[in-house]
Amino acid sequence: MKALVLAGGSGTRLRPFSYSMPKQLIPIANTPVLVHVLQGVRELGVTEVGVVVGNRGPEIEAVLGDGSRFGLRITYIAQDAPRGLAHTVSIARDFLGDDDFVMYLGDNMLPDGVTGIAEEFTTHRPAAQVVVHKVSDPRSFGVAELGPDGEVLRLVEKPPEPRSDLALIGVYFFTPAIHEAVRAIEPSARGELEITDAVQWLVSCGADVRASRYDGYWKDTGRVEDVLECNSHLLDGLSRRVDGYVDAHSVLVGEVVVEVGARILRSRVEGPAIIGTGTVVEGSHVGPYTSIGRNCLVTDSRLESSIALDEASVTGVHGLRDSLIGRAASVGTTGRGTDHHCLVVGDHTRVEVAA
Ligand code: DAU
Repeated sequence: MKALVLAGGSGTRLRPFSYSMPKQLIPIANTPVLVHVLQGVRELGVTEVGVVVGNRGPEIEAVLGDGSRFGLRITYIAQDAPRGLAHTVSIARDFLGDDDFVMYLGDNMLPDGVTGIAEEFTTHRPAAQVVVHKVSDPRSFGVAELGPDGEVLRLVEKPPEPRSDLALIGVYFFTPAIHEAVRAIEPSARGELEITDAVQWLVSCGADVRASRYDGYWKDTGRVEDVLECNSHLLDGLSRRVDGYVDAHSVLVGEVVVEVGARILRSRVEGPAIIGTGTVVEGSHVGPYTSIGRNCLVTDSRLESSIALDEASVTGVHGLRDSLIGRAASVGTTGRGTDHHCLVVGDHTRVEVAA
């Protein structure tokens, strides 16, 4: 079996971060979402991976390289524009050949793995096997209606009035039967070739299409709130590791990772939390549920349930919570005795100050 990992798209819901980086490279517990995805693919025993990239391909290639670091062989497949998930299957036709494959969305996190579902697929080998998860509001997802034995009766992409609460989540298993389906469908109302429509085409032709329920933790990391929530979930599984320097005036509480080259000075770090390589935390209180990237500076501040990306700095700010701070961004104060806020805020940015 091969894998097709989708890392193109536009990421408009993750602005302003997606202006400067592909959304699939946003770090969760200090590791890019896409690297978590590749680890999930490797767990299935798959080594041949096609990664679909859009105009941010070079940044993704710089992080993933040829895949050998993850025990994979990566072939990059360029998509000229986000023309839909089924379109990625058609442009990957040469790479996929006549092999079965797993299609994995590069912004979906399924940390509990899908090895059991992959085994079901290889044992029964239906034309297609989708993965579903019960959600409270399915309107922003593909939605599946199932028969009593898990057979798929109907699939609809983002229905305004869903007829079930089972959302299609980011993993699909296919035999080569999907290629004819992809050729047969037309673009949807939003102008994309939908994989949901291609699988529905197979259902309409009487092909064997099954669904498996994934009951583990799942998150589409499409929005900032999802990224922060997923970060907290992953940090809950952290184990303490201190490879950096912690001075005698600092306290680490619970599951804290201090990466090599990080320095904790006169501070309290409350786990779960990760402090990245080269970062300095001084006179501050960090955590719980906080990931600080590489080469950041946190001084005289209080930060919890947040993520700071590489090279960010936070100085003299108390009470930061539920925040996502971009690469090399700086958050500071206007100085002692001043009574105003000063903001240099980029496009589609959100700032919330205490009332
Ligand atoms: O998250 C699960 C949902 O993912 C499913 O329930 C939906 O049925 C499915 O259509 C998809 O919906 P989204 O609107 O969330 O898909 P998104 O545009 O975010 O794209 C998913 C991934 O695929 C993302 O990593 C970007 C990549 N992609 C997307 C498009 C449209 C591409 O590589 N090329 C594309 O043309």
